[in-house]
Amino acid sequence: MSIQIQGRVAWVTGASSGIGEALTRKLVAEGWNVAALARSEAPLHTLAGAAPDRILPLVADVRDYAACERAYAQILERFGRLDAVIANAGISHRATVEEVDLSVLREVMEVNFWGAVHVIKTALPEIKRQRGWIVGISSIAGFRGLPARSGYSASKFALNGFLEALRTELYGTGVKVLIAAPGFTRSAIRMRALDAHGRPHGETPLPEEKLMTAEEVAQHIYHAMLTGKKYLLLTTQGKLTVWLHRLAPIFMDRIVYAYFSRERLH
Ligand SMILES: NC(=O)c1ccc[n+]([C@@H]2O[C@H](COP(=O)([O-])OP(=O)(O)OC[C@H]3O[C@@H](n4cnc5c(N)ncnc54)[C@H](OP(=O)(O)O)[C@@H]3O)[C@@H](O)[C@H]2O)c1
Repeated sequence: MSIQIQGRVAWVTGASSGIGEALTRKLVAEGWNVAALARSEAPLHTLAGAAPDRILPLVADVRDYAACERAYAQILERFGRLDAVIANAGISHRATVEEVDLSVLREVMEVNFWGAVHVIKTALPEIKRQRGWIVGISSIAGFRGLPARSGYSASKFALNGFLEALRTELYGTGVKVLIAAPGFTRSAIRMRALDAHGRPHGETPLPEEKLMTAEEVAQHIYHAMLTGKKYLLLTTQGKLTVWLHRLAPIFMDRIVYAYFSRERLH
């Protein structure tokens, strides 16, 4: 598929760090203009400083639908079109169902599910007009529930269902819908993950330096977009988890429990 990229416009949420920041840099390097949205102003302005004429920083909260609509209006005003929406903004938590406050589960759903719905719903008419791309950054946890991440898993399962339904609605329109599921990726997400009472954990249970980098993830996602893939599963461990779960979901309870049992599960 030969696609003309110069002058195309992408809207990336969660662009102030990690995968969203890496995606923004990758898209700009490939010739795109990017509207980069997050709540933190300073990192967005640093990012935009690298290519002020091509990156539009947008300070907003994806939980706020009206703010997403205002951000979209700013994108059209600045670039005059929108070709791709990448719903990447996300948070996590680590706490069992028994101990977690309900407010934490609701918060995760608000950002990961409703935040993605807000930006996709806002952008959809223009994406259809451009026969463009809708990308949802899901997770391996959107295909296999993970212990102490019930809200996170639920939010990504919900996102997958939403995107699969939307992809089917858009059959034959030329819009490409990609469900991208990174495996464990080096980023701040586990440090920021909420504890049972909604406070950031401030530590990570994983050896971050050994994980796939956000730049590698961005490279894979971009390639999957251009080749019109519908699903992208990343890391060997991630693919194995999804495949084994499809074959033997009950057996996988024991395997997944053993992996996470270094965390206190009960
Ligand atoms: N890292 C992994 O291992 C991994 C694996 C699978 C999937 N993922 C998914 O990849 C996506 C990116 O995560 P990451 O690892 O890059 O984490 P990250 O470095 O913590 O980045 C998360 C981004 O989301 C933004 N964000 C959070 N809440 C927001 C809100 N309410 N409104 C707008 N922006 C918000 C953050 O910016 P502000 O705080 O400035 O708003 C930040 O830019 C998430 O959807 C995550 O679930 C990550």
